[in-house]
Amino acid sequence: MAESISITDNRTGETVEVPIEDGGVSADAWRKLLPGIWFHDPAFMATAGCTSAITYLDGDAGVLRYRGYPIEQLAEKSTYLEVAYLLLKGELPSKSELETWNDEIRFHTFEHENTKDFLKGFHYDAHPMGMLISTIAALSTFYPDAKLINDREVRAKQVTRLIAKMPTLAAGAHRHSVGMPFVYPDNSLDFPSNFLSMMWKVAEPHYEPDPVLSRALDVLFILHADHEQNCSTTAMRTVGSSHADPYSATAAAAAALYGPRHGGANEAVIRMLTDIGSIENVEPFIADVKAGKGRLQGFGHRVYKINDPRATIIKRTADEVFAVTGKNPLLDIALKLEEVALSDDYFVSRKLYPNVDFYSGLIYQAMGFPIEMFPVLFAIPRTSGWLAHYIEGLDRSSRIVRPRQLYDGESVRDYVAFDAR
Ligand code: CMC
Repeated sequence: MAESISITDNRTGETVEVPIEDGGVSADAWRKLLPGIWFHDPAFMATAGCTSAITYLDGDAGVLRYRGYPIEQLAEKSTYLEVAYLLLKGELPSKSELETWNDEIRFHTFEHENTKDFLKGFHYDAHPMGMLISTIAALSTFYPDAKLINDREVRAKQVTRLIAKMPTLAAGAHRHSVGMPFVYPDNSLDFPSNFLSMMWKVAEPHYEPDPVLSRALDVLFILHADHEQNCSTTAMRTVGSSHADPYSATAAAAAALYGPRHGGANEAVIRMLTDIGSIENVEPFIADVKAGKGRLQGFGHRVYKINDPRATIIKRTADEVFAVTGKNPLLDIALKLEEVALSDDYFVSRKLYPNVDFYSGLIYQAMGFPIEMFPVLFAIPRTSGWLAHYIEGLDRSSRIVRPRQLYDGESVRDYVAFDAR
């Protein structure tokens, strides 16, 4: 059997045979055979926008790997910064490479003092994700050399700066929203602990977070570091293809992450669980979802059609966190929802299973994060994935992303003066 497909233009009888390579077929042959006939695929349901060697995802088998390494092994044995290095450079670092990388990140955790003035300008109840997106974009004005996107050394420096400063900006957005003074980074702490210190430190000279919580946050960072061509990463690669600097492109990606269908879903999960209120209300809620009155937040995924492997790891992490913080009272409602949904044909037949966001919000809430911070917590680690894709996009394709459209509006018509309308 030939590993190819044939496309025939029935108007002319002309046929081309296109080889199937790496699970896809090149659109070049289609374009040559059928110039001006565009493939209509609005949500990219059947379109691979790029080739990539960063993350492998098999949604039917529930497999997720970064640069070939299974997510389960990375979550158990690695740290977020090691994973960020892996995503960006393609290989796990040696011990000394990791030490150097950790030092470089530490060196760049401080932000320019003017960034704080910028943050202070936001209204007291500004959403931290809105503040974060704007501040990331503003960073491009602090580092004008970031425009030199073809200079690999300059580019690498912006990558380090962005990964290092994300926790500082994120914590700053929170501190502003609660009227607390900004906390300087404590570079004696590791990456997640430093973030927790900038979030929660009050008057103590040195803040030392509970190591279980710090490690749990690091695991969540690992799980969220990349997820191939999701909405925000597609935004990152698209904006990057216009040769925008990495700060502007990251701000665009963060904006895409903000939506409730993507990075805002864990926030939506907590609001949903709070609205449900008690276990007795779970069954009527599920009935409403089945009747089309809203969605079961934290369920379903465009790619995973069996369990999201990240959800399995997160459920374990939740137990560890709750052993320290006490159980999140919403957990019982979540467990009941999962039980009812997974035994209901509506969800089973549509292959709707809990995704990464179903339990992550419960952990964040138990750790004391306000729900507005949830998408921000997603953006911190996803920055390394976005940047890996930004660089890969620049290195692999010289073309600007520019899809076509199928125009279905009015045909040509003459301008009508006001008194004739
Ligand atoms: N609750 C109830 N029904 C659902 C849900 C849900 N959460 N998700 C999908 N469906 C139904 C949908 O109504 C449709 O039914 P029908 O065929 O009868 O019209 C069918 O399942 C297919 O849905 P779809 O909207 O075509 O699926 P999609 O692949 O376009 O959407 C999704 C994927 C994640 C946007 C969607 O499942 C959803 O809205 N889930 C809730 C929000 C959520 O948890 N998002 C986080 C995603 S994971 C984080 C990340 O990786 O970004």
